[in-house]
Amino acid sequence: MTSAVAADSGKATPALAALAYHDGEFVPLERAQVPVTTQALQYGTGVFEGIRAYAQADGGLAVFRGHDHYQRFLRSARTLRIRLEPDARELCALTAELLRRIGADTDMYIRPLAYKRALLPGTPPGVQLTGVSDALSVNAFRMGSYTDRRGIRVAISSWRRPESAVLPVRAKVTGGYVNNALAVDEARAAGYDDAILLNSRGQVAEASTSNVFAVVRGRLVTPPVTADLLEGITRDTAVTLAADLLDVPTDFHDLGREDLCLADEVFLTGTGAEIVPVTEIAGRPVGDGVPGPLTTALTAAYHEVVRGKDQRYRHWLQSVGPGTG
Ligand SMILES: Cc1ncc(COP(=O)(O)O)c(C=O)c1O
Repeated sequence: MTSAVAADSGKATPALAALAYHDGEFVPLERAQVPVTTQALQYGTGVFEGIRAYAQADGGLAVFRGHDHYQRFLRSARTLRIRLEPDARELCALTAELLRRIGADTDMYIRPLAYKRALLPGTPPGVQLTGVSDALSVNAFRMGSYTDRRGIRVAISSWRRPESAVLPVRAKVTGGYVNNALAVDEARAAGYDDAILLNSRGQVAEASTSNVFAVVRGRLVTPPVTADLLEGITRDTAVTLAADLLDVPTDFHDLGREDLCLADEVFLTGTGAEIVPVTEIAGRPVGDGVPGPLTTALTAAYHEVVRGKDQRYRHWLQSVGPGTG
């Protein structure tokens, strides 16, 4: 990686790229700023994505399922009446260009953000989605795998996942992440790594930034989208790889907290977390308290796929090309 990326300062502090895409141009990161009057800052009216780019077996860098992430991004944006000029294909091209300019040659995390910015002339102040300008930024930082493959310990949060009649939970809306932040904060304060949130009906929704899978009586199960969760792209990858490579179909049905306690295996899926075994829930071991065979096999398959080692899934990888940074 070139000097355009700050020295890696460890897990807690991401190595932010020195360049970002902001308001239609590539600018030094310190110029990618927003005023305090920004509507999204005041009201949480922004949408975002988290996308990974992986160093490939052939030495290049490739974005994993970027087009799927940007399609979800555009759907989220529409929910908040945020109009973006680039389409999903153009957003992928813009992201590749950013990574090239940064000179990225190792695992990266990409953070697109679209948000409500300023009141248009004639719009009175207040909470609203119309009469406000829209803006787009994309920044990136160096980030390798950070979750412990030996498994994590999770709490069942006392915070409930809001139902979709309260917030559009299927969209990645910045303001909605107050719920996730409170759940993580509570879990960490109690000594856990993460939290699983139940929905308003008391069924499992998702973890703070990942989806939940369980192996129950030999069946792989994940809650349906109607359980008030974000329809994760890694969730879809896990379902696909389990079916294609391990011959394990996924059942989409509600899971109660008791199902989790009785499960043989539990794992989480998310772009950031990737596939991570859960070995303890609310103080009780999951199964034997170690990552189970299906979780282990699926994790191995996932890492082969994202590194371009399995040609069957090359279509999920968009090559970034040589850097110019
Ligand atoms: C609340 C929530 N659920 C699930 C996920 C997993 O989604 P994905 O696999 O698309 O990253 C995320 C991460 O984006 C998230 O923030």
